[in-house]
Amino acid sequence: MNTQQFIPNSQGLEKSIEKITFSWKTPSNIALVKYWGKSNPQIPKNASISFTLNNCHTHTSIEFSKREKSTKANFELYFEGKKKDDFKPKIAKFFERIEEFCPYILEYGMVIRSENSFPHSSGIASSASGMSAIAMCLMSLEKELTPELSEAFVRRKASFLARLGSGSASRSIEGPIVVWGEHPEIENSSNLYGVQCEGKIHPFFENYQDTILLVDKGEKQVSSTIGHNLMHEHPFAEQRFIQANQNLSKIYKYLKNGDINAFIELVESEALTLHAMMLTSHPYFILMKPNTLEIINAIWQYREETDSKVCFTLDAGANVHVLYPEVEKAQILQFVENKLSNFCQKKQYICDHVGLGATKL
Ligand code: DP6
Repeated sequence: MNTQQFIPNSQGLEKSIEKITFSWKTPSNIALVKYWGKSNPQIPKNASISFTLNNCHTHTSIEFSKREKSTKANFELYFEGKKKDDFKPKIAKFFERIEEFCPYILEYGMVIRSENSFPHSSGIASSASGMSAIAMCLMSLEKELTPELSEAFVRRKASFLARLGSGSASRSIEGPIVVWGEHPEIENSSNLYGVQCEGKIHPFFENYQDTILLVDKGEKQVSSTIGHNLMHEHPFAEQRFIQANQNLSKIYKYLKNGDINAFIELVESEALTLHAMMLTSHPYFILMKPNTLEIINAIWQYREETDSKVCFTLDAGANVHVLYPEVEKAQILQFVENKLSNFCQKKQYICDHVGLGATKL
């Protein structure tokens, strides 16, 4: 794998900048074909594909101040205005992992200020938006130090760096649809970074809606990291990785030909398969809650009674992502408000839709 391309040429980095601040807003994303299982360093066992979101995002600024070169990254971290030392070990580990690719970070003190658009303890994974925002700020500094870098390279390397922080973060730089992981049918796809889905997407999927039902806002009992690790000894793992790659071929086709019924079946099956992997891990665990199942059943019933194309997907938690075409927005929001929100904590949900990826502020 060609990681060499991401090691800066030291001669290109001789420009000196005393103090500079960059701010980026990067979104969360929701996988349609799931990444669950990886090898070192953050290499996925199968390719995954996601819708980039728009409203669920992290806003991060990094102030870089030149200092004596040190042996490890120096940074302070503020989350929603408050110093957040308990988030530091994860970020410190990230900086260690990317040092080889961003040696210049050792020559700067960094003050990182970050906030999420979604409530902090909403159970929405913030690692994708959080890590991709830091990666974009670092790449803005690299571009400033090496002005000849192309925009395309800057975004590709940002996705590469974000992946080393959290796998799914590699899919939060671009939009509206991103593939991460090498796949024989997807040109330029890579295990190292996410790539935008090429070619024309069927108009049916334009501005696709995602209403996120907040079923459980608490801390997850089993982290994604532990869940991924349990795939190493998993009896069904190899078959699952093959299936995921096959599902990616299929969904790619449906996104282009607009076969919405096939899309729905595949997306819901992927969500349930992800949780089936958790149910059959050793040790086994359950992240769905009774209300997750209530919502799934209510969606199935609604689909049976109407000609709606609404469907659901899940990430590694109890919350439900309700996916539907824009033309159904008014009816589905009414259905959510009248019925599904009763299964949410404090009747809370977040209305989102597909978006275009990272934006500089
Ligand atoms: C179920 O990207 O959170 O959301 O690489 O360990 O940070 P790490 O894992 P993470 O895993 C995401 C798992 C998922 C599926 C997906 O987003 O593809």
